[in-house]
Amino acid sequence: MQFASIKHFLGKLEEWMWDYNAESERQMSVEQFYRTNHINQTYDFVKRMREDYGKLNRVEMSIWECCELLNEFVDESDPDLDEPQIEHLLQTAEAIRKDYPNEDWLHLTGLIHDLGKVLLHPSFGALPQWAVVGDTFPVGCAFDESIVHHKYFKENPDYYNSAYNTKYGVYSEGCGLNNVMMSWGHDDYMYLVAKENKSTLPSAGLFIIRYHSFYALHRAGAYEHLMNEEDVENLKWLKIFNKYDLYSKSKVRIDVEKVKPYYLSLIKKYFPEKLKW
Ligand SMILES: [Fe+2]
Ligand SMILES: [Fe+2]
Repeated sequence: MQFASIKHFLGKLEEWMWDYNAESERQMSVEQFYRTNHINQTYDFVKRMREDYGKLNRVEMSIWECCELLNEFVDESDPDLDEPQIEHLLQTAEAIRKDYPNEDWLHLTGLIHDLGKVLLHPSFGALPQWAVVGDTFPVGCAFDESIVHHKYFKENPDYYNSAYNTKYGVYSEGCGLNNVMMSWGHDDYMYLVAKENKSTLPSAGLFIIRYHSFYALHRAGAYEHLMNEEDVENLKWLKIFNKYDLYSKSKVRIDVEKVKPYYLSLIKKYFPEKLKW
């Protein structure tokens, strides 16, 4: 690289240092995020959260109203995502629609997969980020090495509990992921909402919603010993979906008003008008 003058060079240098600082600060906050997450996501914590939020006694609203509500938030755990959530949701859905035009349930799954992030909103108790976003993992059995920032589990009390720290823990071979408790966050919450409100989405759609942040499973292949046959089938769709969830975090602008009627028709097909949250 050529510099016209020493002044130009110093200007560039300052720019680089600025970028470097911003980058390392972001790294720090992601690491801090996972430390808090790994310390606090215990079997008892998850059980309590599931019972409490499973009551769905907080808000009544439609799926689209929830999309709009979510628009107020940005996901702290995700360094690449600084745009409004609704853009991410629609980008994911539209990208899938282009490649799988006949799987309308998968388009809708793309749109709603992150709606559980409303847990951050004051009407839902304004949960801290560590209890809403980030990678998820089973509790009640050993934390797999492939989980991001695994070292911080050494500060989680379950790590030393012999009921919870073996390969199977409280589970058994092939018991099915449906019987496994996952760390609490927006995935499991949105699954509960969809299921309890009697969504007619196919089992693969519900599986995607529930496990899309379970990277140890769909990227590293961990915990396969807990899966049953249905999980194996559904995992194929989750792997397809996941490419779009990541890939769509690009700057493709979406004309929300233009695509809205299509998604409203899908919501009508697979969900009741109003849902309990
Ligand atoms: Fe998500
Ligand atoms: Fe997402």
